[in-house]
Amino acid sequence: MSPVPVQIVYLICAVLFILGLKRLSRPRTAVAGNQMGAAAMLLAVVVTLLDRQIVSYEIIIAGLITGAAAGILLAVKIKMTAMPQLVGLFNGLGGGASALVAGAALLELVSLHGGSRSPGSIFIVATSFSGIVGAVTFWGSVVAFGKLQGFVTGKAVQFSGQNAVKLILLMISLGLGGWLFFSPMSGYLYWAMLLFSSLLGVFLVIAIGGADMPVVIALLNSYSGVAAAATGFVLANNLLIISGSLVGAAGLILTNIMCKAMNRSLRNVLFGGVGRELSVKAEEEETYAGKVKSATAEEIAMMLDGAGRVVVVPGYGMAVAQAQHAVRDLMNLLEARGSVVEFAIHPVAGRMPGHMNVLLAEADIPYEKLKEMDEINTTMEQVDVAIVLGANDVVNPLARSRSDTPLAGMPIIDVDKARTVIVLKRSLGAGFSGVPNPLFAADNTLMYYGDGKEGILDLIAALKET
Ligand code: TAP
Repeated sequence: MSPVPVQIVYLICAVLFILGLKRLSRPRTAVAGNQMGAAAMLLAVVVTLLDRQIVSYEIIIAGLITGAAAGILLAVKIKMTAMPQLVGLFNGLGGGASALVAGAALLELVSLHGGSRSPGSIFIVATSFSGIVGAVTFWGSVVAFGKLQGFVTGKAVQFSGQNAVKLILLMISLGLGGWLFFSPMSGYLYWAMLLFSSLLGVFLVIAIGGADMPVVIALLNSYSGVAAAATGFVLANNLLIISGSLVGAAGLILTNIMCKAMNRSLRNVLFGGVGRELSVKAEEEETYAGKVKSATAEEIAMMLDGAGRVVVVPGYGMAVAQAQHAVRDLMNLLEARGSVVEFAIHPVAGRMPGHMNVLLAEADIPYEKLKEMDEINTTMEQVDVAIVLGANDVVNPLARSRSDTPLAGMPIIDVDKARTVIVLKRSLGAGFSGVPNPLFAADNTLMYYGDGKEGILDLIAALKET
């Protein structure tokens, strides 16, 4: 255990982490919260470096430079739309690092003391736990990354007896962990345990469809925190225990929020075999044939002129088109003409939690204008014009009526209840779930084909002329 002054600095860091997390819960204070957390982390790293007997600063500096270079490169290169898989990968690296650090601590013990000193039971239990959870997190995250990046199939890969295989892998991993407890100097047991846990991580995530990856990533985020906390016990580092627990708890809360937003239990996400395929082509023809109407910017401008209440429902397409600034200008124009404009935010719109909030905040759209799904749905009948901007799954009424689609049971924004619905997207193409959307063929819907940003800019120009 470190000396008292170090423990006091760790305590200060822990308080800063908690205050930073609290501030992250509101867009207005989120930047300050993030800076607070980063400053606390820097303080924690510096104090830890001063406290421990550092073997080689050169290696640490080389690691810092390599890590910083990789981080900067990723931050600059990555597209906003690929953020979820990047976050997923970062979780995985955290889990992998925890497993390796715990393994290194065990190796050190074996090689330095060669059996002369028996490790405490907390040390060995924590090492095994960190190894199992860390390996599951790392390999699960790699598969989740692959699914979202498109180099692993987005479909749920299922075969009979799959749950039995997962159970057997878990039992073997736990069994090896138990064996290690009684034979801690047999370091090879740890690596064997890591191998089976890694397979478990792959099997756990490969069986889940791409549409459920956000929940899986939130859960893996929680696992990475749990693995870090376990490694904190291995290293007897209180701050790692606290920060790991915070990540573990935050990830679990986020997982719960997302499951609720999709109206699914976690058990159903993990073992429910989602990703059942509809015969999409046939369904599309049946859904759309002869029923879809479209309108031009000028026609829509005439409808918007004099509309009392307008609601914009943004989705992934707004992020792709980067239409948030254009939609802010449209909002200002409509409000100057006497309309009330609001934004309906679905919890899983886009590709990451809070995706729409981040984009709209970036365009300085006042936070009070963003209405959550449950709130806006109660008054949807009173909306004159709803503009669906690059959203699809989150407004798909099939989620209410069909149990054989990946969307089954997901609460949606009831945009079909508005008086007129304008859907701005490039085609009748499906959203993330691959399911056709009967909203596009509804009587009160008009398709407005085009890129999200261009479409809104054309609408602004047409409105100015009316
Ligand atoms: P989606 O259902 O994925 O639909 C997005 C639509 O945007 C597409 O149908 C596409 O149609 C359109 N689009 C693409 N580029 C466009 C552009 N440049 N201009 C205009 N439209 C464009 O999006 P959603 O309604 O936001 O639903 C999100 C889905 O992603 C849900 O199924 C959710 O479960 C899943 N998901 C969510 C998350 C999180 S945490 N938010 C993470 C991963 C997955 P066209 O090609 O016809 O233009």
